[in-house]
Amino acid sequence: MTQRIKATCAALAVACVPGLMPGIAVGDPDDDSLTINGEIAIVTEAAAPAHTENLDTIYSGWRFRTDETQAVQMDDFDNPGMIGVENAMVDWATADGAAGKSCADCHGAAENMAGVRAVYPKWNEEQGRVTTLEMEVNNCRENRMDAKKWKYTGGDMTDMIALISSVSRGMPVNVAIDGPAQSTWEQGKELYYTRTGQLELSCANCHEDSYGMMIRADHLSQGHINGFPTYRLKNTKLNSVHARFKGCVRDTRAHTYKPGSDEFIALELYVASRGNGLSVEGPSVRN
Ligand code: HEC
Ligand code: HEC
Repeated sequence: MTQRIKATCAALAVACVPGLMPGIAVGDPDDDSLTINGEIAIVTEAAAPAHTENLDTIYSGWRFRTDETQAVQMDDFDNPGMIGVENAMVDWATADGAAGKSCADCHGAAENMAGVRAVYPKWNEEQGRVTTLEMEVNNCRENRMDAKKWKYTGGDMTDMIALISSVSRGMPVNVAIDGPAQSTWEQGKELYYTRTGQLELSCANCHEDSYGMMIRADHLSQGHINGFPTYRLKNTKLNSVHARFKGCVRDTRAHTYKPGSDEFIALELYVASRGNGLSVEGPSVRN
């Protein structure tokens, strides 16, 4: 164990045990491969993008889960996250708001969203800022449908993001970090490496320095977001990216940012970019 990992474990006041999982050494995910429904091949391991200086290889969080949890994501009939996708298909086709429009009226079939998940968060020229998928959905609801905004991490919203993600499964995450998005990306990077809370831990302390360790009963992954929304067996629902960020920040006993805040938008862009090259997997299954 390196000194840095030892320090992280000491700060967490937990015994971080390498190799609790049979055959797995510190830092190692398992070597299973993922194909969904026997047809959608998912890239769960790739060379780290050049800007992710401290990692050589990136791995999907799926590779850190047990065989039982992994299996639930391999078939849509078993994946409870697909119920959210089905709910969203109903919303997609149902008119809402004073303009009397549904998503389908303008966008056609949900399959037309193929490729969209892979490139978000993304610079929006019209708004002059980086936007997330949730912001795009609410922009359509508010300004194009004259409908009420959905709560950022609410069930309707997260189901819709699951639908939009599901039609991009297997496509490589490819968010742009240069041009007008660069300053937001840099803000996100700064947040990723800032130690917070009573435990004085940064995202990087856990997901970069210590992935592969066992923290309590959890096999620590690199913390990518290619699988979001994730259906968690722990809370038996679909979880959005910002809800997960909030939980992780809270675990360091720090004051956390709000879902939809500028800070979490920047952090999402940065974390998404660390996973450039992995496949879109959402809705995935995690513990
Ligand atoms: C009145 C027409 C209209 C309606 C209704 C509408 N949208 Fe849109 N939407 C647009 C336009 C126009 C854009 C911007 C141009 C584009 O990307 O197609 C857009 C963009 C988007 C984007 C970003 C796409 C991208 O490629 O970056 C998403 C995601 C989206 N809409 C989702 C939805 C969802 C979900 C609904 C229903 C809740 C919805 N929209 C309803 C017209 C509409
Ligand atoms: C104290 C250690 C710790 C810190 C600090 C931490 N996390 Fe986590 N995080 C975890 C654990 C444990 C899990 C659940 C196991 C896993 O998926 O890695 C997790 C899961 C995640 C996941 C889900 C991965 C997946 O595949 O579903 C994401 C995304 C994530 N963290 C992002 C972050 C971000 C961003 C930060 C900084 C704001 C952060 N985490 C800080 C411990 C931490």
